Amino acid sequence: MSAGVAPAGAAPRLEASGGSPVPSTPAGCLVTFEGIDGAGKSSHIGRLAERWQARGLQVERTREPGGTPLAEALRELVLQQPMDALTEALLIFAARRDHLCQRIEPALATGAVVLCDRFTDASFAYQGAGRGFDLDLLSTLERWVQQGPAGLRQPDLTIWFDLDPAIAARRLAAARAPDRFEQQDEAFFHRVRAGYAARCAAEPARFLRIDAGQSLDQVGADLDAALAARGW
Ligand code: TYD
Repeated sequence: MSAGVAPAGAAPRLEASGGSPVPSTPAGCLVTFEGIDGAGKSSHIGRLAERWQARGLQVERTREPGGTPLAEALRELVLQQPMDALTEALLIFAARRDHLCQRIEPALATGAVVLCDRFTDASFAYQGAGRGFDLDLLSTLERWVQQGPAGLRQPDLTIWFDLDPAIAARRLAAARAPDRFEQQDEAFFHRVRAGYAARCAAEPARFLRIDAGQSLDQVGADLDAALAARGW
């Protein structure tokens, strides 16, 4: 059992930074990246990781579902196997719990900046808004999985690459074989996008919305400018 993991039945022990003001350096921060499939997060995550590493920061790049051997095995199931909405949500949050306990919390504790490709906002957007899964139940799972003695572990910053689903569909058409989510129709992604918009509106201080409908260079420039405005 790794540091910070509670025995079964005991209160989960995750250090939390939720609610605290964003510090002027990303060290020790959890930064998450969100958006519908095809929004183009990956290249920007890689660029940020390189830039912050060059600045001497310890950078941990990871993703959800996934990030640990167990969570990657669960990812494979969630992306490929048919299952009902509750099974899907439970597996995603199980993967998240393992990822938090085994990887994210230990990395944050050493002062790393953790760059995570998707996190709980994706569950509210995809399972909640997209699939119509009960939002209260998702909130309960969030509390179970992310609760620690100092509160809920939440991202310090969430970068939302916002894109029109029609543009995303054109981009995805040229991509590899679609998984269970990428196979959904455009109406599904309109709901997911609306789900992200609702999360952003509810917590504007945590979210950074970037217009992902522009060229890769312009999206990168907008992201850099927004981060510079925070002193990052
Ligand atoms: P994605 O992050 O897009 O990876 P890739 O770029 O390799 O396709 O794929 C993960 C998929 O998982 C994505 O379609 C959204 C879905 N997902 C959820 O439905 N709920 C969640 O909570 C998370 C983290 C992901």
